[in-house]
Amino acid sequence: MNREEAFSLVSQRIGGTHLMSHSLAAEACMRALAHRLEQDRDLWGLAGLVHDLDLDECGDDMERHALVAAAVLREHGAPEPVIHAVLCHNDKANRSSLMDHALWVVDPTTGMITAAALVRPDKSTRSLELKSIKKRMKDKRFAASVDRSQIRACTELLGLELGEFLEICLRAMDEIRHEIGLG
Ligand SMILES: [Fe+2]
Repeated sequence: MNREEAFSLVSQRIGGTHLMSHSLAAEACMRALAHRLEQDRDLWGLAGLVHDLDLDECGDDMERHALVAAAVLREHGAPEPVIHAVLCHNDKANRSSLMDHALWVVDPTTGMITAAALVRPDKSTRSLELKSIKKRMKDKRFAASVDRSQIRACTELLGLELGEFLEICLRAMDEIRHEIGLG
């Protein structure tokens, strides 16, 4: 499965722009992290892009989320490590690879960065600074549904300090800000 095939599969199954933006943001962060950690950028990017492709279909049924995606991905010949990472992001398999951990940590991070960008005067990542994301993370009422501990696990799971991890993700999302509604 190449990027084009993955993108078309995701586009067919995801209706909303919000979820599409999240998928593209996750892809960008995963690629950037793979680069930093000297891993396979295409493979990691693929995992980010496809990880929520069944979310519209599953709706509120979180028990099915990721299981449905895994079946669809298998049918379309996605690489097994990608399928495993997708299962892990909704705790449907035990995380074992670095990519499994990265996707799990990236998932809430895109939400945190997006929320922090949207309260900027320009509603963009352009003027968003690392210190502002960190400040928002400390405010429990801000984007309350985003699990901070899952983001902070970057240090233990990926060997990256929170600041560096957030900076990598922020830069990656800023590069595609026009595509993800943060331009
Ligand atoms: Fe997600």
